[in-house]
Amino acid sequence: MIKDSGARVVIAPSLLAADFTRLGSEVKRAQRAGADWLHLDIMDGRFVPNISFGPAVVKAIRPLTQLPFDVHLMCERPEILLEPFAEAGADRITVHVELGRQHVTDLIWKIRSLGKRVGLCVNPPTAMEGIEPHLRHIDSILVMTVNPGFGGQPFITETLPKIQRARAWRAERNYKFAIAVDGGINFQTTAECAESGANVFISGTGLFGERNMKGAIKKMRAIAQAQNANCSRVA
Ligand code: DX5
Ligand code: ZN
Repeated sequence: MIKDSGARVVIAPSLLAADFTRLGSEVKRAQRAGADWLHLDIMDGRFVPNISFGPAVVKAIRPLTQLPFDVHLMCERPEILLEPFAEAGADRITVHVELGRQHVTDLIWKIRSLGKRVGLCVNPPTAMEGIEPHLRHIDSILVMTVNPGFGGQPFITETLPKIQRARAWRAERNYKFAIAVDGGINFQTTAECAESGANVFISGTGLFGERNMKGAIKKMRAIAQAQNANCSRVA
């Protein structure tokens, strides 16, 4: 059996579930609670049937925290947004594989040329094969565990084999990319995803929805680390 020792557990609250009337204090709450990254969901009303916020909001919150900003572009034309988000303070920019091979190739190189980390995201109905040609050039695979567009949806269990596929690629080919999950992530689904090989846990309602976010992050991290430890023992 090929051994995959996994990777550092990252807990990333999604700002989409924050109280938008108090955005600044919500950002600080996430940092104080021990978050590793802040996940920022950008929706254009075309790629997904919802609109969230843009670079001006990201720029406004950038001075409030040192947390890395993980910008998830659910947009039909991400190319027009890469520079604005890079300038606004993104550290990692994730685009969707559904945009097609050439489009994605161009986006990856553009994100790299801006000096940012690159993520590639796959929706629940989309096969993993579209990710494969880009594996060498990305820093993270983001497996959507709900259909994107809205927070608070239930986790789709059928996405678990995709996480396992990503883990197998990483182990077989000795890549270092992170494996992230996004959508319906709570304590139960964290365990399932970690067991399948995820190491980045993005959660909106599961963390911002908790009064005690610090306790929730601590618990989510412990669950993920325990599963990772189990996996390495059997590997
Ligand atoms: C879904 C977004 C997610 C969302 C997750 O379209 O990409 O990041 O904020 O929200 P929860 O954790 O509430 O499912
Ligand atoms: Zn997201």
